[in-house]
Amino acid sequence: MRCIQCGRTYDPHPRLLLCPMCQGLLEVEVEPYEYPSWSKWALRSPGVWRYLELLPLPRGVEPVSLGEGWTPLTRITNIGDLHGVNVYAKNEGVNPTGSFKDRGMTVAVTVAKASGAHAVIVASTGNTASSAAAYAAKASMRAIIVVPRGKIALGKLAQSILYGAVIVEIEGSFDQALEAVLEAVRQDPRLYPLNSFNPWRLEGQKTIAFEIVEQLGGVPDWVVVPVGNAGNISAIWKGFLELKRYGLINKLPRMVGVQARGASPLASAWRRGLSEPVFFDHPETVATAIRIGRPINWPKAMRAVRESKGLFIDVDDDEILSAQRLLARHEGLAVEPASAASLAGLLKLRKDRIIEKGEKAVIVLTGHGLKDPDSMMAAGATRLIARNPGEAVRIVTSLLTR
Ligand code: F0G
Repeated sequence: MRCIQCGRTYDPHPRLLLCPMCQGLLEVEVEPYEYPSWSKWALRSPGVWRYLELLPLPRGVEPVSLGEGWTPLTRITNIGDLHGVNVYAKNEGVNPTGSFKDRGMTVAVTVAKASGAHAVIVASTGNTASSAAAYAAKASMRAIIVVPRGKIALGKLAQSILYGAVIVEIEGSFDQALEAVLEAVRQDPRLYPLNSFNPWRLEGQKTIAFEIVEQLGGVPDWVVVPVGNAGNISAIWKGFLELKRYGLINKLPRMVGVQARGASPLASAWRRGLSEPVFFDHPETVATAIRIGRPINWPKAMRAVRESKGLFIDVDDDEILSAQRLLARHEGLAVEPASAASLAGLLKLRKDRIIEKGEKAVIVLTGHGLKDPDSMMAAGATRLIARNPGEAVRIVTSLLTR
């Protein structure tokens, strides 16, 4: 494990999550016991664990898995405003709990369980919570989730309740929930934290990059990712770097991090040419999943975007909701608002001619629409009431002639 701040290296340990010397973020460096190859991977069943050589699986340990990964990569065909860009959507909403978080949880919960932990804890805007709750259940561990009260989408809360997590609702933001979790873990080391400063989790999430290349048969020019706590964009970039290091690809994509305007510490910094984020004390956006003002993984994310010659941008709530409807009504893809930020960002980059005709872009659709039923209901539809079956027949047969 290597500290990205001071460069010190450490022998791997499940409990080593931040640098003991400088409190910087750590990165796991997996030394493959066998050389990774596409042909070897292709023989295994699809999913996160197919990429075993590049994952940190403790010896003799069976992964805690719900069948995560190998999500569809769908070609976007019906959205006109893309004007000749080849766009593919990586539909992470079809993971076992409905978001990309499951990729990270299968690895981090496996590591946690192997280390003897009994209880896991997360701060969350909702998806991390439901994923942690599910994987903890599968691993026979207790899950404690700390969430901003009234600010997580209904589907995510409902999942966490059903999976049996203990739910602590804090009057405050996600950032305060995360601070509380960090302090709780300092005070009670029996709690194992699964937030994305936990580098083991990001190891699972990097498999999005592996799948994109495998499913696309190559490397796209652009990968567009919604950014909240900034772990996922960092993980995906790490995945591409590893493929390059092992000679499995020969070029790298440019990474785009999309934030919601009311919660855009990284995009605001980027616009002003700053190398550190402009923290938001009161983040606000309809995309509650990414309503985050102080992203803990910002140094990794800044590095990913800078190294890949990409950029951070922001989109407003109207652009997000309009992109959500476009995906649903033209592509049959129901996503939650945060995920639609990917498309909103891509449309903006296309309009500004930053992405060119003929280029290939992948948008990562991070979470399922059912996570946030309120946002789905607000999309509006023609809804007609029939008082009896006869009236229903009259209404439906008149519809197409209207
Ligand atoms: N999209 C969705 C649907 C998310 O739930 C999140 C993060 C992101 C994007 C951003 O990913 O944080 O790695 O930059 N959700 C976290 C949670 C914060 O608690 O569920 P990130």
